[in-house]
Amino acid sequence: MCGIFGCILKDGNAAPIIHGALKRLEYRGYDSVGEATLYEGKLYIKKDQGKIDEVNKIHNLDDLPGNIGIGHTRWATHGAPLQINAHPHLDCSGQIAVVHNGIIENFSELKQELENIGHVFRSKTDTEVIAHLIEHAWKTNPSLSLAEAILEAIRRLEGSYAIAVISPKEPNKIVCARNESPLVIGVNENSIYCASDIPAFLPLTNKAVIINDGELVTLSLEGYEIKKISDSSLVMRKPKILDWTPEMALKQGYPHFMLKEIHEQPATLRNTLRLQEHYLDLMTTFLDRAHEVFLVACGTSYHACLAASYMFSKLAFLATYPVIASEFVEQHGKSVNIDSTILAVSQSGETADTLAAVNCARQRAATILGLTNVIGSTLTRISRVYIGQQSGPEIGVAATKTFTSQLSVLSQLALRLAKKRGKVSQDEMDFLAEKMEKLPDIVETILQTQEEKVKQIAKKYKDAKTFFFLGRGTSTATAYEGRLKLMEIAYVPAIAFPAGESKHGPISLVEQGFPVIFICPKDGTHKTLIGNIMEMKARGASIITIIEEGDSEIRELADDYVEIPNGVPEVLSPIPYVIPLQLLAYYIAIERGHNPDRPRNLAKSVTVK
Ligand code: AGP
Repeated sequence: MCGIFGCILKDGNAAPIIHGALKRLEYRGYDSVGEATLYEGKLYIKKDQGKIDEVNKIHNLDDLPGNIGIGHTRWATHGAPLQINAHPHLDCSGQIAVVHNGIIENFSELKQELENIGHVFRSKTDTEVIAHLIEHAWKTNPSLSLAEAILEAIRRLEGSYAIAVISPKEPNKIVCARNESPLVIGVNENSIYCASDIPAFLPLTNKAVIINDGELVTLSLEGYEIKKISDSSLVMRKPKILDWTPEMALKQGYPHFMLKEIHEQPATLRNTLRLQEHYLDLMTTFLDRAHEVFLVACGTSYHACLAASYMFSKLAFLATYPVIASEFVEQHGKSVNIDSTILAVSQSGETADTLAAVNCARQRAATILGLTNVIGSTLTRISRVYIGQQSGPEIGVAATKTFTSQLSVLSQLALRLAKKRGKVSQDEMDFLAEKMEKLPDIVETILQTQEEKVKQIAKKYKDAKTFFFLGRGTSTATAYEGRLKLMEIAYVPAIAFPAGESKHGPISLVEQGFPVIFICPKDGTHKTLIGNIMEMKARGASIITIIEEGDSEIRELADDYVEIPNGVPEVLSPIPYVIPLQLLAYYIAIERGHNPDRPRNLAKSVTVK
């Protein structure tokens, strides 16, 4: 996730306006920033790595001439957060400046093709291919307008993008376009804007035009013209008047960041399916060679590791050891060695306990692999290979979208490893890959159809003193995560454990009306889990189940149930099955009058041991 912005003003300098808008978009990314303006037929650019304020201190971003320009605040996906990779990116001639939010999936092929015909690339980003493709279209046919050259270029792109482009060849225009990344236009009498999100221009205008996927827009002081990318046909759309406060705009109309981030999961999961094959393959190779693999993390990230240990074992026949990072040194500090591999999972990449475990393993010459949401974080710097999970910044303290993205990346790794080791048939492989592709839609369906039901369950159980969260197999990890969400934001003590453990102690807590939440995908554990439900029911527990759609057997045993579309393979089940648990924690927190975005005593990134 990055933020893009562009503006054309009748009077005055664009640069300070761009700077202000980028500050309002900083929640979308903040590892580098850049601006480009046009003045008297020349392109002016300032860009660097660092937060906007840091870059501004060094470069004085407002000091760029011209009434037209574009800007970008970056959340690195391809290429480290360095000045060279900061946007805007230029073509070879330096006449086309592009800012981009999204991921171009076929950028390696396009880059190769462009390099073969003489284009010289400066950055490691996927974005730069767009500038060169436009240049190529213009070279091939110089009579094209900027918009036409851009149309030719973007028809070659696979993946997601929202772009804004300027060029001295058409000095009074900004051309922008979108596919699967957000883009909105703001209009005023004396100015026009494009942005990734409404908060960017909300203090400047309350008239907005939402741009849809597959549309290109040309902005000028005369107004805007929308065209379909597929056939260049014109689209007529009038601006809407917004009555949002800046605070509401930042949360896109949701009351809390946590709820917004829960709802972003279909999009973030689509992003994690666009990871560069190259990094996945590289990490798979390291995992394949490893003698022993530790999956090391804290909190929610640890739950992703726990789920991953089932995925690696079931799919790739690889035994891995999920370890809570703060225990790693005590538990394995003496035995970890040159033959050990540590896959550290940390959305922030800065968690002190995780880094301490990694440092201990590094000193003993172990191989360090990293999975994180923050490229440029400490974890990325000390890992032999790392993968950026591409969830975009998460503002709510409770991890939601970063968890499901971690699960998605880890399951992709497990699948690749299974393929490499010849542990799954081609048919099985195709089946799982197809199911993985469908997960974003499944999550979308759950959000659309089950949220109201979860809200009612939250109302019913809001005063419960404690909960059990139970699952078997891979769902044990889902149960742990559901419990953590409820505890951390609703302050309800809760206990999670593999359902088989009930009769070894915890069942003695159960009395009439004690709420027990069961995670029940229809997998190999289904039958045994029914037995566990029966034993809780016999002691008067209230049974809340997350079941597969149409699972009448469990539905009839349950006091309340939430349904997940059927056909999700067991190893992928934590992704959809955790969604109702995130919503449940959120709505119980609301019912109990707590702010889910700011749970007491907690911080987003825990940088102390
Ligand atoms: C969960 O909602 C918390 N935010 C917390 O458990 C978190 O997952 C943990 O502190 C680890 O953070 P990391 O992924 O940034 O390392």
